Amino acid sequence: MKILLPYMKKYMKYAVLCPILMILEVLADIIVPYLMSRIVDVGIVNQDISYIVKIGLIMVAAALVGMLFGIISSYFGAKAGFGFAAEVRQQTFKKIQGFSFANLDEFTVSSLITRLTNDCNTIGQVAMMSLRMAVRAPFLMLFALIMAFRINASLARIFLIAIPITSIIIYFILNKARPLFFKLQTKVDKVNAIIQENLTNIRVVKSFNRQKFEEKKFEDRNNSLRETALKAISIIILFMPILNIIIYSTIISILWFGGQQVIVGTMGSGELVSFITYITQVLMALMMISFFFMQLLRGSASAGRIAEILNTESEIKEINNPTRDLKDGSIKFENVSFIYPSSKENTLNNINFKIKSGETLGIIGSTGSSKSTLVQLIPRLYDVTEGSVIVGGLDVRNYDIKALRDQVAFVLQKNTLFSGTLRENMQWGNENATDEEIIKALKQAQAWEFVSKYDDKLDTKVEQGGSNFSGGQKQRLTIARALMKSPKIIILDDSTSAVDMTTDAKIQKIFKEELHDVTTIIIAQRISSIQHADRILVMHEGRIESFGDHDSLMKNSSIYREIYESQQKGVVGE
Ligand SMILES: Nc1ncnc2c1ncn2[C@@H]1O[C@H](COP(=O)(O)OP(=O)(O)O)[C@@H](O)[C@H]1O
Ligand SMILES: [Mg+2]
Repeated sequence: MKILLPYMKKYMKYAVLCPILMILEVLADIIVPYLMSRIVDVGIVNQDISYIVKIGLIMVAAALVGMLFGIISSYFGAKAGFGFAAEVRQQTFKKIQGFSFANLDEFTVSSLITRLTNDCNTIGQVAMMSLRMAVRAPFLMLFALIMAFRINASLARIFLIAIPITSIIIYFILNKARPLFFKLQTKVDKVNAIIQENLTNIRVVKSFNRQKFEEKKFEDRNNSLRETALKAISIIILFMPILNIIIYSTIISILWFGGQQVIVGTMGSGELVSFITYITQVLMALMMISFFFMQLLRGSASAGRIAEILNTESEIKEINNPTRDLKDGSIKFENVSFIYPSSKENTLNNINFKIKSGETLGIIGSTGSSKSTLVQLIPRLYDVTEGSVIVGGLDVRNYDIKALRDQVAFVLQKNTLFSGTLRENMQWGNENATDEEIIKALKQAQAWEFVSKYDDKLDTKVEQGGSNFSGGQKQRLTIARALMKSPKIIILDDSTSAVDMTTDAKIQKIFKEELHDVTTIIIAQRISSIQHADRILVMHEGRIESFGDHDSLMKNSSIYREIYESQQKGVVGE
């Protein structure tokens, strides 16, 4: 809560006005029963019609004023609550944008989504209700108690029994509900995880006919969520009747003892009626307070989950006065080892190699041999566990991260396009790019040949995830997008796997002729994609098996020779 409180700042005005107006509403609530007792005990007893009308009008006016303040107060409360939630959501979103890949692995995307939506909504609602109830309940209780004691101090002693009993019951119920609220949130997380995984991959699910399996998986988690929610709610449902019993028994005892006093004549019957109203208000206020605590519990579960995000420092830290410019595109790995936060064994072991600026490096090796892991260290998507990655003569940890990533373009293996137009997607690489520049990059990536055939050319719509393009088209578009940055280093992680051999060869030719200054790293399954590279790394189980050009590897690397021969026979390993 402490961490989130500063986000209320912008809405402080409403957060302060809401409870103040609320006090005015409470005053009206308190005065109305008093006026009523006057009508009964003075107006009716003396049969004074004009007095009844006068007090009656004041009563209506007080009720109206109270209602008006109540409405404004609620509105301000809502404004503060939703504003607060929006502000927290915005800041949390911003924080996530700065997360490293390792942070994302740790939180998981689905949990982040739940936290941004569900949890933010919850704290907004709780903030809104707290602003109203936290003030309304104690004031209502205080004023109603004062009035009750003023009317009849001896009768008011009933409170001494009713309030402690109610408090104890509330305490027990809250204690039981508390862990359930925390559990509830994690269950929501789990349901969201399936929804997210399933929906983003719904096409794969369908093509494998796994709908039934997925439905079952979903059903299990959905049921488990239902049960936890039901348990939490049952406690609250139980709460109401118990409280009603207390209220009714209190009223009955007041009628019993108060009634005797009315018969004797020491208490007016109007006083008795208003007394009952006050005692009901006191107990209602108690209920409100307990409800408020319950909300607070729910809110603190959510607030804790959001604070977890806000408190997480990105694994990737920047030094003071970082260097902004890469001197050149040379790359050197020195005794580099790397381990994923979630795994136990090293994913990369003692990697040593270097390439000059402008050279082309091919990387080949079976799936899982840590090719992607190795190149992710260059733009600092992850940090090395041991050793250092030196780019342009300087350890990557010395660069400004944004500048580094601008100069190292990375076409991820699982790359995607975003909904919008093709032009918008290309401008990711360079916001101010002109159409000529975009077309040039598209041509280099061999994408213009199909884009130029669309009626809308650069205005062609891209569906979410680029689903309206084929795999090979998407790959060429993502290469073009990376080229838009005019990088010093470009990394293509299996980026031409779905592109036909002829087009692949054309792309290689362009890279050699037009982009010869750019250091290029190509991870590929096909020997043909990399055999003309200046250097080739053969990866095997997280280690470098051998390093050299095509001819030397043919002589020295058994793995390379094996891949080569298998592909020569036409068994293309894709
Ligand atoms: N985010 C991750 N968290 C934990 N382990 C990972 C992660 N990404 C990859 N790995 C593991 O690291 C190893 C190397 O993966 P990767 O570099 O993707 O191989 P390649 O690109 O050569 O197919 C694999 O065993 C894989 O399971
Ligand atoms: Mg890979």
